[in-house]
Amino acid sequence: MMMTLPTLLRLTCLALCGLAVSTPTLAAAAGEAKWSLAVHGGAGVLERGELTPEKDKAFRAGLDAALDAGARILKAGGSSLDAVEAAVRVLEDNPLFNAGKGAVFTAEGRNELDAAIMDGATLKAGAVAGVTRTRNPISLARAVMEKSPHVLLAREGADQFSKEMGLEQAPPGYFYTEERWKQLLAWRKDHHAMLDPTHLFGTVGAVALDQKGHVAAATSTGGMTGKRWARIGDSPIIGAGTYARDGVCAVSATGSGEYFIRESAARQVCDRLAWKGETVQQAADGTMAAITKIGGDGGLIAIDGEGRAAFGMNDLGMYRGAISSSAPTPRTAIYADEPSPR
Ligand code: GLY
Repeated sequence: MMMTLPTLLRLTCLALCGLAVSTPTLAAAAGEAKWSLAVHGGAGVLERGELTPEKDKAFRAGLDAALDAGARILKAGGSSLDAVEAAVRVLEDNPLFNAGKGAVFTAEGRNELDAAIMDGATLKAGAVAGVTRTRNPISLARAVMEKSPHVLLAREGADQFSKEMGLEQAPPGYFYTEERWKQLLAWRKDHHAMLDPTHLFGTVGAVALDQKGHVAAATSTGGMTGKRWARIGDSPIIGAGTYARDGVCAVSATGSGEYFIRESAARQVCDRLAWKGETVQQAADGTMAAITKIGGDGGLIAIDGEGRAAFGMNDLGMYRGAISSSAPTPRTAIYADEPSPR
């Protein structure tokens, strides 16, 4: 039978597209059952010697706990979506990190929280910005994704949605920590005295690959100390601070959000993989170089469709960790010159 050129092209495309879509499923069917998880707790000017040994230990223990929570789900065959939500909830509950309890304060002395989650299997996403009453904003972002027709809800409306969905509410005082309050007082005294972006920004995030080959990303933050005018950073902006697409990658960013928005950082990492054929580490580094070029700073974590983790940063450090089916013990790093866990 003679085939016309359009038919031939269509069949070739179907074969190639089918291959691309089913790659993760084939990996799972081959019995590899691999899974992988990476987390971050913010990037910044983290100089050796600046953290006391106790603080260093506490940060690493916080990352370990997040990795444990996510890994338990992945090991048992649970979804990457559940794993990133669980890991981020642990970091939100830990007062050391700038998300949930321990979030930084706005200029008016409030906590306004941003979060986003994305499912690489369906490209569904949910996000919230400037919320004030939900104990775990990442779970609110997930509720937006799963229980509303929207992607991004903000401020009073998002707070209202949270109550209607029955999510755990917290009084404003719940998010307070003395350390963050002191940072606000220092910022009020002299806006330029606090140039360390760890204090100004800080974010938590997780990316994961599950045994079925699906990826997901989640990010949560208090934003930046002294933010005004209902400022929103990159974390709840899909494609900027958070992105996931099956067979390509999942990304969560941290740092000066305005720059990550301008560079569509999280989506850029995935596009570099898909369109330029870069490895996930090259894509993470290339995106951070683009952020550096326009004056931004921070870092990002990414995982590719095979579960390879990558860490990119242009600061002196980033709280980060990884665990996977091939290396099932949580591993963490803080400083830029410390090898990143793989
Ligand atoms: N990356 C966090 C923020 O800019 O709000």
